[in-house]
Amino acid sequence: MVGSPRKGGNVDRLVQEVLDGAEEAGFQTEKYILNELNYSGCQGCNHCKTADECRIDDDISGLLEDIREADAVVFGSPIYFYLFSGQFKLMQDRFYSFIDSGFRSRLAPGKKAVIVTSQGHPDISAFEKAADDFAGILKLLGFEVVEIIRMGGGGAPDAVLARRDLLDKARAAGRAL
Ligand SMILES: Cc1cc2nc3c(=O)[nH]c(=O)nc-3n(C[C@H](O)[C@H](O)[C@H](O)COP(=O)(O)O)c2cc1C
Repeated sequence: MVGSPRKGGNVDRLVQEVLDGAEEAGFQTEKYILNELNYSGCQGCNHCKTADECRIDDDISGLLEDIREADAVVFGSPIYFYLFSGQFKLMQDRFYSFIDSGFRSRLAPGKKAVIVTSQGHPDISAFEKAADDFAGILKLLGFEVVEIIRMGGGGAPDAVLARRDLLDKARAAGRAL
């Protein structure tokens, strides 16, 4: 999924590279552009602690279903004020429905995850905590985080086109899923 509102921007292009690599490896893929979906954040109703579902029925419902079915998921977000974007966080909170009342993951173990981030700051260590923290959440959910791809100097939406190394890394991560 792409958590940037910039279609064709750095996150979008890198996520697409991973998906293209995955298709080369024989996977069927689906891409969600979060900014084009209508959805709300978690309402904290705790329905998902007694039922194995999120009570909200909106555009995120299908994405949650697809994650349950998927062998691998690519999570992409720009860094907005040190963190992942609001669009991404709103979706992320809905993962609460993947956790049962004993705080165990309901997801089948062994799903693989690739995380893609892009930031304006040229030093990728400046905001690495955002992706590292999200990787921790994915591990809690039972994912194996196989790659984190971090783009720095991504002020211009097409800056990543000058980063053949990152595009190749993204494609290779997809092929290796
Ligand atoms: C609201 C907003 C907040 C941002 N905050 C940061 C930040 O904290 N650190 C940073 O390095 N870049 C920041 N940026 C720059 C974006 O992370 C950068 O342009 C990124 O490459 C965007 O990815 P995209 O091309 O996929 O949209 C911010 C941009 C916006 C619009």
